[in-house]
Amino acid sequence: MRAAEGVKKALIVGASGLVGGNLLERLRGDPAWHVTTLSRRPPALHGEGAQHLPVDLLDAAQCRAAAPQLADTTHIFFCARSVEQNYVINVDANRLIVENLLDAMLPTATKLEHVQIIHGMKWYGSNLGPYRTPAKEWHPRLPGRNFYYEQLDALIERQKGARWSWSTLRPHFICGVSIGSPSNPLSTLGAYAAVLRELGEPLHFPGLQGAFDAAMNITDVALLSKAMEWAATEPCCANEAFNIVNGDTFRWRDVWVMLAEHFGMKPGTVRPTNLREYMADKQPVWEHVAKTNGLKFERLEAVADWAFADVMFAGAWEQTASVVKAHQYGFTGMVDTEEMLLRVLGEYRTLKILP
Ligand SMILES: NC(=O)c1ccc[n+]([C@@H]2O[C@H](COP(=O)([O-])OP(=O)(O)OC[C@H]3O[C@@H](n4cnc5c(N)ncnc54)[C@H](OP(=O)(O)O)[C@@H]3O)[C@@H](O)[C@H]2O)c1
Repeated sequence: MRAAEGVKKALIVGASGLVGGNLLERLRGDPAWHVTTLSRRPPALHGEGAQHLPVDLLDAAQCRAAAPQLADTTHIFFCARSVEQNYVINVDANRLIVENLLDAMLPTATKLEHVQIIHGMKWYGSNLGPYRTPAKEWHPRLPGRNFYYEQLDALIERQKGARWSWSTLRPHFICGVSIGSPSNPLSTLGAYAAVLRELGEPLHFPGLQGAFDAAMNITDVALLSKAMEWAATEPCCANEAFNIVNGDTFRWRDVWVMLAEHFGMKPGTVRPTNLREYMADKQPVWEHVAKTNGLKFERLEAVADWAFADVMFAGAWEQTASVVKAHQYGFTGMVDTEEMLLRVLGEYRTLKILP
């Protein structure tokens, strides 16, 4: 499909994933945008009307072969993340996927205005242990390798002297619907609850007491999509990073009764559980849940990533981020986290992905 003159041409990289798929939903109906998507698999949701390029970003030759079709791109939204088994995030692979795409596209993408990469609180070491909170964009980098640092350095190196600008956004535990992308906080939580309910258990909290009690900020994917469009198109955001979280603080302990009620369960106790081990033999339990509730996916690994969940529930420390910088630059979007949790779990129920 050809775009009309003056229309911005977005390339959503990683559109089969949680962040990219939801940005696709935001932009695809907007006449100001013409959208092309790129990932190995086509988007599972919202793909109608957008051209899709199946490309493995780890393969430089595939990126070069796709480049001629991307020559009129004005905005790159880079939402891909290379994850190996057991939620291992390899630094080299994640730098390479940025480098391969940019090195293939930059010689011919002469209309390029902006490149945005989605990062997250791992920038601040949120997965490693207690860190300075609320995290602010200017806080110094931590020692050691970090895939986000290397991606940004690769981006800045290529931008020197260019007319296009960049931005990065830092959300945390993004809540929204994705299909075929199970490293998703709420689909994993929902599958956990459904398995426990089927086993006649209450909704135990699977992390440490410290994780149950810790103050946290998390991010609604629709809020993130709005912020992505804003940061990519507002001139004042050029070459800046922004924390994007809902703007309120929550603790699992304060929403646990509400979540249990949503699943028709009683709240349980804090019961630290290695979910990868615990769930290893629960496929038949999920299959029964899926059959009796008419759910779309009978394989547990289609909806839940237990290694991801073990990381999510391991954080027995405060994980908050300041949104002052985004507000000062003009993004004032906020979301009520409790309302969001129920809304997104409700969407999963409507889509027959979770009971
Ligand atoms: N999920 C969260 O809660 C969360 C929280 C904070 C920050 N973030 C950050 O947000 C960004 C996006 O995360 P997400 O949750 O949307 O991830 P996701 O759902 O796992 O999606 C990842 C995307 O990357 C694509 N991809 C992976 N390897 C690829 C390759 N070799 N070639 C082409 N495409 C490839 C995948 O598509 P194919 O598999 O089809 O190729 C998929 O579209 C990441 O930087 C992540 O660290 C996520």
